[in-house]
Amino acid sequence: MAIHKISVTINREHEETVVPSNMTLMQMLRESLALTGTKNGCSAGECGACTVLVNGEPLNSCMVLAVECDGAEITTVEGLAHDRQLDPVQQALIEAGGVQCGFCTPGVLISSRALLNRNPDPDEDEIAEALVGNLCRCTGYARIIQAVKDAARLKPGMSQSVAAD
Ligand code: FES
Ligand code: FES
Repeated sequence: MAIHKISVTINREHEETVVPSNMTLMQMLRESLALTGTKNGCSAGECGACTVLVNGEPLNSCMVLAVECDGAEITTVEGLAHDRQLDPVQQALIEAGGVQCGFCTPGVLISSRALLNRNPDPDEDEIAEALVGNLCRCTGYARIIQAVKDAARLKPGMSQSVAAD
């Protein structure tokens, strides 16, 4: 198995790592870099729990080879909070009660952030379409969709601070 040295920017930090040819981006994040917020629900591109941003686009990281990401900018759920402030979509999801077991939540957050980046004021149909690849088995989608609508109205700095380590 060939081994490749790659460099990526993950959550605003530069990383250099070595990956085998067949390692997925999800495996690299979870197993090599301990970024376990990205969840493995199916390893088959079906559930969306592993969604991350690659150069701003939401992708199922279980369906992308790590070596293909050489030079890419990647955002995982760990990178959404910034300057100790939750991303507005994190804050809104908490307030709307859009989390139960939380397994789908990282992927939902990433897909929602991608939507809000390209469309700051989406309607319900646009939100539902953006989340079509994110399966939630327990909360249902009404609260999640409401949270994304609410997040569009939250201004930066209105989110609560992230707890100190
Ligand atoms: S783990 Fe990647 S889509 Fe389910
Ligand atoms: S909160 Fe449990 S799968 Fe969505």
